[in-house]
Amino acid sequence: MARTPLIAGNWKMHTTAEEARALARAVRDGAAGVGDVEVVVCPPFTALAAVADELAASAVKLGAQNVFYEEMGAFTGEVSPPMLTALGVEYVIVGHSERRQYFHETDDVVNKKVRAALAHGLKPIICVGEKLEEREAGDGWKDLVRGQVKAALAGVSVAHAAKAAVAYEPVWAIGTGRTATPAAAAEAHALLREVVSGTFGRETAELFRILYGGSVNPENVKELMAEPDVDGALVGGASLKAESFVAIMHFGE
Ligand code: 13P
Repeated sequence: MARTPLIAGNWKMHTTAEEARALARAVRDGAAGVGDVEVVVCPPFTALAAVADELAASAVKLGAQNVFYEEMGAFTGEVSPPMLTALGVEYVIVGHSERRQYFHETDDVVNKKVRAALAHGLKPIICVGEKLEEREAGDGWKDLVRGQVKAALAGVSVAHAAKAAVAYEPVWAIGTGRTATPAAAAEAHALLREVVSGTFGRETAELFRILYGGSVNPENVKELMAEPDVDGALVGGASLKAESFVAIMHFGE
């Protein structure tokens, strides 16, 4: 397969630095010998340094959950791309539905963050996905998620594009235990790959990773990963326990 599967844990607003350190250590130990899978953990900002320390001699990579688009300045409470790279952060989640919902992140803000991340060598994991009412209102959700991907990647160069990934996270599947069926995920991923292909060309689209997120667990990951357009998972709740996250990175085996 041209695309190395990517399994990322989004710890959201969980874990103190010390709790994160312990979880990272267990993930690191469980990931030894996982094979051709890229594993990323995304702790809260306050735990990045501790987790970086635990992961120093491991193949597990470090991600952040958000980033601001300016390099420095009077932006109280924000964290810049150079602050993250200085800690050894390689990935950053951008535009999670929780940030869109609670912190009013628009497609335009998401795009600025994506471009700033890439300009500083960070790999953005761009989250898109429709809400339940949008899914139930016919085919409109397709244009909506297409539009989210197009907007997020606007102005990104072909050279940078394959460093980004998209996570298709239908909002109705997040934290609900209601996973998209493998067929539903496959349909969404295929249409998002078409968007990437239309924007950057077929070659880039073949390299571009599209992850699924929303109630991924050790029981459903295998079926999801069996879909050719599902290149990995962005895992919330099940990434907070090393045992389930390690099982997921082994595709439930
Ligand atoms: P859950 O796995 O808890 O549904 O969360 C998914 C998610 O939002 C990952 O970013």
